[in-house]
Amino acid sequence: MSPLDQVRIIQLPRVQDPRGNLTFVEGEQHVPFDIKRVYYLYDVPGGETRGGHAHRDLEQVLIAASGSFEVVLDDGRARRTFLLNRPYHGLYLPRLIWRELENFSSGSVCLVLASLRYDEADYYRDYDEFIRDIGCQP
Ligand code: TYD
Repeated sequence: MSPLDQVRIIQLPRVQDPRGNLTFVEGEQHVPFDIKRVYYLYDVPGGETRGGHAHRDLEQVLIAASGSFEVVLDDGRARRTFLLNRPYHGLYLPRLIWRELENFSSGSVCLVLASLRYDEADYYRDYDEFIRDIGCQP
């Protein structure tokens, strides 16, 4: 299976309550890895793009904890765009996927659950190098 075929939306648990709703995530239970790191993107100015890289080993789940944004994915064979706009949807990204995050709504928050601690050596930041390494033509 190519990396893009493994991408999927995970329906996270929702505890609905008139006082406000709650969603929780447990590593190896709701996401297919042990969660080693959490980070979030916020205060993204209108029109800005984040991402622009792929990972050698890292797996992630992206959640629009607030607002919405689009995730453009490319595994060198195909491209697909996902709109995230529900705090109970997690977008699972396996390793070796180039991603761009764009069209952030005002006040949106992108919460990221990651399978590994931060390691700059795990990044592909050059698209042509990524494509070369995975054996596709740039
Ligand atoms: P980066 O992953 O490039 O952000 P984006 O997802 O928008 O591409 O990270 C931006 C900067 O933040 C970079 O200098 C590395 C630093 N950073 C950490 O120090 N720890 C982390 O866990 C992350 C995700 C980034």
